[in-house]
Amino acid sequence: MKGIILAGGHGTRLYPLTLAVSKQLLPVNDKPMIYYPLSALMLANITDILIISTPTDLPQLTRLLRDGSHLGLDITYAEQAQPVGLADAFIIGADHIGDDSVALVLGDNIFHGHSFFDILQQSTSDVDGCVLFGYPVSDPERYGIGETDADGRLISIEEKPANPRSNRAIVGLYLYDNDVVDIAKNLQPSARGELEITDVNRTYLERGKARLVDLGRGFAWLDAGTPESILQASQYVQVLEQRQGVRIACVEEIALRMGFIDAEACDRLGSELSASSYGRYVRSVAAEFRDSPSPN
Ligand code: TTP
Repeated sequence: MKGIILAGGHGTRLYPLTLAVSKQLLPVNDKPMIYYPLSALMLANITDILIISTPTDLPQLTRLLRDGSHLGLDITYAEQAQPVGLADAFIIGADHIGDDSVALVLGDNIFHGHSFFDILQQSTSDVDGCVLFGYPVSDPERYGIGETDADGRLISIEEKPANPRSNRAIVGLYLYDNDVVDIAKNLQPSARGELEITDVNRTYLERGKARLVDLGRGFAWLDAGTPESILQASQYVQVLEQRQGVRIACVEEIALRMGFIDAEACDRLGSELSASSYGRYVRSVAAEFRDSPSPN
């Protein structure tokens, strides 16, 4: 399965923060925002990743993540000249996807939960149609909402419904089989002029090939699109990291635990950052792993 991180957009709800800096490079506690969606793909065992962003933001994103080889990844980059919609990712990424299935994650979405690794392993094996993830929210009228039958099969998708039929928001992580490329290429722009991911999902729904996996209440899904939500996400990460002494979305640690790099490589990455507590954490993880390797 291939991965795509959609990390462009204008970030207008964050102005003036995003007038000169990509939203996806803003800090969420101790690391750039894009580390969180990147971690999600890595935990799904996806190493071949395309990052799509604006012509102005791509150079900085490339400076941060390079070709990914230091993390055992293969990261490439593509431009989206204008933010014409989430489904544009599959048109821009058509060559990258090739004959494969694909996971799309939005660059400002943060996922955290004990069961995330297992959910990803189960959901990414053999995707036939599309797999969406639902998360209970208190304000469903602000989101794309999915309704399921008793077997977890998706029976309706509503975009920002006035009278929601469920409280399950569809989060910014989507898994598709290879049909997604053709579906995206045949989309018409919506009333707001965008190629909508909801229209892609509806096509799968009409074909009876859409599943909604419940992330459940013991899980955290945050989207960091406003100053308030970035602060909340930072506080969430900070509390857990300080209390537990572990880091969320530490890409070097995930690369090590997933077997993409070895402890020596991880230690080298930590040394480059050792002036920060993040860097020292990476080194400590490498040292601990050398003594008693434990996966994930
Ligand atoms: P949004 O939050 O919907 O859009 P935005 O980032 O431009 O922010 P704002 O609404 O404040 O102007 O986008 C969700 C994610 O998808 C975000 O990480 C940016 C990315 N995105 C693209 O890369 N290209 C696009 O065409 C769109 C619509 C979004």
